[in-house]
Amino acid sequence: MTEKTYAMLKPDAVAAGHIGEIISRFENVGLVIERMELATLTPQQAAANYAEHEGKPFYEGLVQYVTSGPVVKLVLAGEGAVAITRKLMGATNPVDALPGTIRGDFGLVMDANVIHGSDSPESAEREIAIFFD
Ligand code: RTP
Ligand code: MG
Repeated sequence: MTEKTYAMLKPDAVAAGHIGEIISRFENVGLVIERMELATLTPQQAAANYAEHEGKPFYEGLVQYVTSGPVVKLVLAGEGAVAITRKLMGATNPVDALPGTIRGDFGLVMDANVIHGSDSPESAEREIAIFFD
Protein backbone atom coordinates (compact mmCIF):
# COMPACT_ATOMS: atom_id res chain seq x y z
CA MET A 1 0.00 0.00 0.00
CA THR A 2 1.25 3.47 -0.83
CA GLU A 3 2.53 5.31 2.22
CA LYS A 4 0.70 8.44 3.30
CA THR A 5 1.78 11.32 5.49
CA TYR A 6 0.12 14.35 7.01
CA ALA A 7 1.70 17.73 6.36
CA MET A 8 0.50 21.16 7.36
CA LEU A 9 1.61 24.62 6.24
CA LYS A 10 1.58 26.62 9.45
CA PRO A 11 -0.02 30.08 9.82
CA ASP A 12 3.21 31.99 9.11
CA ALA A 13 3.67 30.26 5.75
CA VAL A 14 0.07 30.92 4.71
CA ALA A 15 0.19 34.57 5.85
CA ALA A 16 3.42 35.12 3.93
CA GLY A 17 1.89 33.82 0.70
CA HIS A 18 4.16 30.79 0.34
CA ILE A 19 1.51 28.10 -0.19
CA GLY A 20 2.22 27.58 -3.88
CA GLU A 21 6.00 27.54 -3.58
CA ILE A 22 5.96 25.03 -0.73
CA ILE A 23 3.38 22.68 -2.21
CA SER A 24 5.25 22.63 -5.52
CA ARG A 25 8.22 21.05 -3.73
CA PHE A 26 6.12 18.03 -2.82
CA GLU A 27 4.78 17.77 -6.37
CA ASN A 28 8.30 18.13 -7.76
CA VAL A 29 9.50 14.93 -6.07
CA GLY A 30 6.41 13.05 -7.23
CA LEU A 31 4.34 12.92 -4.06
CA VAL A 32 0.63 12.92 -4.80
CA ILE A 33 -1.66 15.41 -3.04
CA GLU A 34 -4.58 13.25 -1.91
CA ARG A 35 -6.33 15.77 0.32
CA MET A 36 -5.84 19.52 0.71
CA GLU A 37 -7.83 22.03 2.75
CA LEU A 38 -7.39 25.57 4.03
CA ALA A 39 -8.77 25.86 7.57
CA THR A 40 -8.18 27.38 10.99
CA LEU A 41 -7.51 24.64 13.54
CA THR A 42 -9.62 24.34 16.65
CA PRO A 43 -7.70 24.30 19.95
CA GLN A 44 -8.88 20.67 20.31
CA GLN A 45 -7.33 19.67 16.98
CA ALA A 46 -4.06 21.44 17.84
CA ALA A 47 -3.94 19.79 21.25
CA ALA A 48 -4.60 16.36 19.73
CA ASN A 49 -1.90 16.82 17.12
CA TYR A 50 0.67 17.93 19.69
CA ALA A 51 -0.43 15.69 22.58
CA GLU A 52 3.11 14.28 22.91
CA HIS A 53 4.34 17.77 23.88
CA GLU A 54 1.71 18.55 26.54
CA GLY A 55 3.34 19.95 29.67
CA LYS A 56 6.52 21.11 27.92
CA PRO A 57 7.44 24.80 28.30
CA PHE A 58 6.71 25.60 24.64
CA TYR A 59 3.36 23.73 24.47
CA GLU A 60 0.92 26.58 25.24
CA GLY A 61 2.64 28.92 22.79
CA LEU A 62 2.69 26.20 20.14
CA VAL A 63 -1.07 25.59 20.39
CA GLN A 64 -1.75 29.36 20.34
CA TYR A 65 0.44 29.79 17.29
CA VAL A 66 -0.98 26.96 15.18
CA THR A 67 -4.53 28.17 15.88
CA SER A 68 -3.69 31.84 15.18
CA GLY A 69 -4.72 31.80 11.51
CA PRO A 70 -5.46 29.56 8.56
CA VAL A 71 -3.25 26.57 7.80
CA VAL A 72 -3.14 24.26 4.78
CA LYS A 73 -3.80 20.64 5.71
CA LEU A 74 -2.41 18.03 3.33
CA VAL A 75 -2.37 14.29 2.87
CA LEU A 76 0.63 13.36 0.71
CA ALA A 77 1.02 9.89 -0.78
CA GLY A 78 3.93 8.04 -2.33
CA GLU A 79 6.72 5.61 -1.56
CA GLY A 80 8.57 6.79 1.55
CA ALA A 81 6.20 9.76 1.89
CA VAL A 82 6.87 10.23 5.62
CA ALA A 83 10.66 10.33 5.36
CA ILE A 84 10.77 12.32 2.12
CA THR A 85 8.43 14.95 3.52
CA ARG A 86 10.59 15.28 6.67
CA LYS A 87 13.69 15.59 4.49
CA LEU A 88 12.15 18.35 2.38
CA MET A 89 11.05 20.15 5.57
CA GLY A 90 14.52 20.28 7.13
CA ALA A 91 15.51 20.55 10.78
CA THR A 92 12.91 21.68 13.33
CA ASN A 93 14.80 24.90 14.11
CA PRO A 94 15.13 27.04 10.96
CA VAL A 95 18.54 28.14 12.27
CA ASP A 96 19.72 24.54 11.73
CA ALA A 97 17.68 23.81 8.60
CA LEU A 98 19.88 23.75 5.50
CA PRO A 99 19.29 26.07 2.55
CA GLY A 100 17.11 24.22 0.04
CA THR A 101 14.86 22.82 2.72
CA ILE A 102 11.45 24.36 3.37
CA ARG A 103 12.31 25.57 6.87
CA GLY A 104 15.74 26.69 5.69
CA ASP A 105 14.28 28.74 2.86
CA PHE A 106 11.08 30.13 4.42
CA GLY A 107 11.66 30.17 8.19
CA LEU A 108 13.64 32.13 10.72
CA VAL A 109 12.60 31.08 14.22
CA MET A 110 11.63 27.85 16.00
CA ASP A 111 8.29 29.28 17.18
CA ALA A 112 7.07 29.85 13.61
CA ASN A 113 8.79 27.11 11.65
CA VAL A 114 6.63 27.08 8.53
CA ILE A 115 5.50 23.47 8.33
CA HIS A 116 4.52 20.34 10.24
CA GLY A 117 5.01 16.79 9.01
CA SER A 118 4.24 13.43 10.62
CA ASP A 119 7.32 11.78 12.14
CA SER A 120 6.32 8.14 11.44
CA PRO A 121 3.71 6.15 9.51
CA GLU A 122 1.89 5.55 12.83
CA SER A 123 1.81 9.29 13.56
CA ALA A 124 0.60 9.90 10.02
CA GLU A 125 -2.37 7.58 10.46
CA ARG A 126 -3.25 9.19 13.79
CA GLU A 127 -2.91 12.74 12.45
CA ILE A 128 -4.84 12.13 9.22
CA ALA A 129 -7.71 10.86 11.39
CA ILE A 130 -7.59 14.07 13.46
CA PHE A 131 -7.71 16.40 10.48
CA PHE A 132 -9.72 14.56 7.83
CA ASP A 133 -12.81 12.39 8.12
P1 RTP B 1 6.39 19.38 13.89
O1 RTP B 1 5.82 18.36 14.87
O2 RTP B 1 5.72 20.73 14.00
O3 RTP B 1 6.41 18.85 12.49
O4 RTP B 1 7.91 19.66 14.25
P2 RTP B 1 9.01 18.60 14.58
O5 RTP B 1 8.47 17.21 14.54
O6 RTP B 1 10.18 18.91 13.70
O7 RTP B 1 9.39 19.00 16.06
P3 RTP B 1 8.68 18.56 17.43
O8 RTP B 1 9.77 18.13 18.35
O9 RTP B 1 7.56 17.62 17.18
O10 RTP B 1 8.13 19.94 17.98
C1 RTP B 1 6.85 20.41 17.59
C2 RTP B 1 6.90 21.92 17.41
O11 RTP B 1 7.07 22.53 18.69
C3 RTP B 1 7.90 23.67 18.59
N1 RTP B 1 9.02 23.50 19.47
N2 RTP B 1 9.53 24.46 20.17
N3 RTP B 1 11.15 25.98 21.95
C4 RTP B 1 11.37 24.69 21.81
O12 RTP B 1 12.25 24.11 22.41
C5 RTP B 1 10.54 23.94 20.89
N4 RTP B 1 10.64 22.66 20.62
C6 RTP B 1 9.69 22.39 19.73
C7 RTP B 1 8.33 23.80 17.13
O13 RTP B 1 7.50 24.76 16.52
C8 RTP B 1 8.07 22.41 16.58
O14 RTP B 1 7.74 22.45 15.21
MG1 MG C 1 6.71 16.62 15.57
